[in-house]
Amino acid sequence: MNAPSVPVLTIDGPSASGKGTVAERVARALGFHFLDSGALYRLTALSAMQAGVALDDEAGVAKLASALPARFGDGRVWLADADVTEAIRAEAVGEGASKVAALPAVRAALLDRQRAYRQAPGLVADGRDMGTVIFPDAPAKVFLTASAEARAERRYKQLIEKGNSASLPALVADMRARDARDTARAVAPLKPAPDALLLDTTHMDIALAVEAVLAHYREQSKI
Ligand code: C5P
Repeated sequence: MNAPSVPVLTIDGPSASGKGTVAERVARALGFHFLDSGALYRLTALSAMQAGVALDDEAGVAKLASALPARFGDGRVWLADADVTEAIRAEAVGEGASKVAALPAVRAALLDRQRAYRQAPGLVADGRDMGTVIFPDAPAKVFLTASAEARAERRYKQLIEKGNSASLPALVADMRARDARDTARAVAPLKPAPDALLLDTTHMDIALAVEAVLAHYREQSKI
């Protein structure tokens, strides 16, 4: 069943707003399926990079996207037989994802695949256009934000914890550049759906954000 009767909670927002972690925890709390739509754009970019297809070759990248041999399970992500869980999180792949995501044919190629995740008992969908384009009829929508500085600081801590070197000013600049690209693109730009709850997590920890999202979902679905 993937009819509109299956509930969907959409969680959109800019990168490093904490929405990935929040969305996963909310999905677990509700016992719902989880769609990490950003992973599909990352997989598409990685696939193009590996196949030597230029990231601005719209038809070539869209062809790869429509036949993406992607699998998710046990917290791992697979591209055909390769475990690419870590590979798709590389900065270069994130950059590539943001580029291929601006191509209309690529977005169209991933549309049905994303909607197919709408299965009982429900779905939590994490991305940029979940509430505006993919599931506009979702009964509950949230748009998570945080200042570019707060998001850069979160990313900085993650990188340092993993033993990488990082520069905070460079991360703030990178965050702003990616926001600008995601917000300004002609197709499915990053923007809140008119009926989305705006949640600014600049001064909020993950647990509090999860509670706020769950409260919104319960209120919208009158549980
Ligand atoms: O969320 P994540 O950082 O994994 O997304 C990677 C890139 O994919 C983003 O920078 C954005 O450009 C793109 N994206 C998108 N639409 C989505 C999810 C991600 O355009 N629904």
